[in-house]
Amino acid sequence: YTAQIDASDLEKGTYPYYMLKEIDEQPAVMRNIVQKYQNEEGRLTVPEDLVTAMLAADRIHIVACGTSYHSGWVGKHYLEKFAQIPTEVHVASEFSYNPPLLTGNPFFVFLTQSGETADSRQVLVKVKEWGYPSLTITNVAGSTLSREADFTLLLHAGPEIAVASTKAYTAQIAVLAVLSDALGAKLGHDMGINMVRELGIVATAMEAVIDDKERIGELANIYLPNTRNAFYIGRGLDYYVSMEAALKLKEISYIQTEGFAAGELKHGTIALIEEGTPVLAIITQANVASHTRGNIEEVRSRGANTCVFAMEGLAHDNDQVILPAVHPALAPLLTVVPTQLMAYYATLARGYDVDKPRNLAKSVTVE
Ligand code: AGP
Repeated sequence: YTAQIDASDLEKGTYPYYMLKEIDEQPAVMRNIVQKYQNEEGRLTVPEDLVTAMLAADRIHIVACGTSYHSGWVGKHYLEKFAQIPTEVHVASEFSYNPPLLTGNPFFVFLTQSGETADSRQVLVKVKEWGYPSLTITNVAGSTLSREADFTLLLHAGPEIAVASTKAYTAQIAVLAVLSDALGAKLGHDMGINMVRELGIVATAMEAVIDDKERIGELANIYLPNTRNAFYIGRGLDYYVSMEAALKLKEISYIQTEGFAAGELKHGTIALIEEGTPVLAIITQANVASHTRGNIEEVRSRGANTCVFAMEGLAHDNDQVILPAVHPALAPLLTVVPTQLMAYYATLARGYDVDKPRNLAKSVTVE
């Protein structure tokens, strides 16, 4: 089975850049994932043999690079919360092959849009030598990491052409949510999330944000066109999205950007905050919202130019971006969209090529 790529997928059509087209495709990708993973009873699920193999594990290791590494952190949150399996996330090139990692029954999950990333594949080669089970979650059927792993789950996101990954990130998170919910359901931990309904709500909320893209463009032109550096901050899931938001911004606009745990700034890095430093804060999780608000004040009092992306219900009137409410566990799917657009418009403002950033390749097939 090879993904059917039709010519329209490879055409920008009326879009100036593939990245904008792929950002706009994200609601449709959510709906496509619902459709592809729905069983005859209407539930979203994954193959039974994969569920059995993963529930036999006493530890899960997620291995990935770049954007896929960032979605791995959201995957850790889901696997531990929904399926209650301890999960570690590894940068593939930093995977430590130390025996303690490999006691008991580890299960390896490789997240890779291309399915060809050499750093990730090197780990998969070792995992197979050790005889441990593996799953590849990828956008390319028939790719190397898909063929070599025991199991594959496809992203069904359609070809992602822009170097800066967008729809593959949200597709990975959606598939990880479906997988984790299926594992949890098998264990009787019903998280009470109607995944079909909630992913539908996410898709609609994404459309609202995408329809409002000009406003995000205005914000990018206020905060980012001339800055040397920037921060994204958040806590928990909002921190994991901050990691991805930072990579998006730096890899195409070349603004030195850090995605930082909001609570950790005071332990040194806050020394970098100067008059006018852009600090973009993400608030979608009720249990940490007030703490992140405190961190925003900390940086604002030191001169930061703060921009707040907050979910309805947690938002203050003067927040710059108020996002429609979605299930808090799925918030990363929505909050990443305005940050993708911030990167896109900042890059336009700075006059760089959105789709072909300097020094980068779409698939890094060298170690
Ligand atoms: C993300 O925008 C970059 N293109 C890059 O970090 C990418 O996510 C990374 O190279 C991993 O690629 P993969 O998902 O195809 O393995």
